[in-house]
Amino acid sequence: MFDVINFRTIIIAILMLKQSFAMVSTHFKCRGGVYPRSTIERFPVPNDKVGWSTEYNEYKPVDYTSPNINGKPWADPDIGSPNFVPKWNMIDGTVDRSSHQGIYQILNERPQNPIGRTGISGRGILGRWGPNHAADPVVTRWKRLNGDSIENNTNNEPILQFVAVKRGDTGEWALPGGMVDPGEKVTATAVREFQEEAMNSLTMSQELKNAWTEKLRKFFSEGEIVYKGYVDDWRNTDNAWMETVAYNFHDDSGATVGAITLNAGDDAVGVRWVDITPDIKLYASHEGIVKETLKRRLLVLRGQ
Ligand code: BGC
Repeated sequence: MFDVINFRTIIIAILMLKQSFAMVSTHFKCRGGVYPRSTIERFPVPNDKVGWSTEYNEYKPVDYTSPNINGKPWADPDIGSPNFVPKWNMIDGTVDRSSHQGIYQILNERPQNPIGRTGISGRGILGRWGPNHAADPVVTRWKRLNGDSIENNTNNEPILQFVAVKRGDTGEWALPGGMVDPGEKVTATAVREFQEEAMNSLTMSQELKNAWTEKLRKFFSEGEIVYKGYVDDWRNTDNAWMETVAYNFHDDSGATVGAITLNAGDDAVGVRWVDITPDIKLYASHEGIVKETLKRRLLVLRGQ
């Protein structure tokens, strides 16, 4: 009997530890410091106070919604506005208010961040209350020596490269992702963002754009989901947060995307092929996404 109880206690303790580790590891960039594009200091949230189930009576986050998002076509009105009757946790007209994390709670009419406290309430600079959906293309190729055999790293493992853009807002290297437009399919967002940010399709001639679109249609129809869920994004608040679906589009031979002239466009100020190394540092949760992609590509390469 005692053994059974002890065993259960140990399992519960392990599960709780795992949960708090997940919270801390997924809530790192959106805690502490000054909230982006503002002078508002986030209320300090220690590691053990991230989860909502842990009491934190002193917690008094500033309520902040940037005046710049007011009236923007991509932004919700304030909660309580006469014509704003959001349908939480579901597709609401053309706006997807469902979360990849499952059902989120509504407290005092506001959606609650599914991971926990961020030190700031309101919407900050995010447009939507609750989940704000993005899509990220992870376009990969094997690094090749003189464009021929695959190059190995010092551990004798093939080097995978992905297309990274340097973001204009934070200056960090990132996946060329973007926000899902209302009613848009998430795969379509991933492809559109890649073309806008990495191929600078916006400034291409229509003729050139058509030629590329045709060539890449097949390539971009074969994406594989590598991540789907919450993102530890610096803009997250207690009531609004980023989620993404990341698709891997892999050019095994290096003949399709390998032939593209990369050209930074739209929100990006630089673009290049980047080696996925263990110490890689990227925007938001993008490190985890590219490392997961590498793991999967190596398994496929080894026929596992
Ligand atoms: C970016 C995506 C990113 C998402 C969450 C979006 O603004 O364009 O690349 O995954 O935010 O951080």
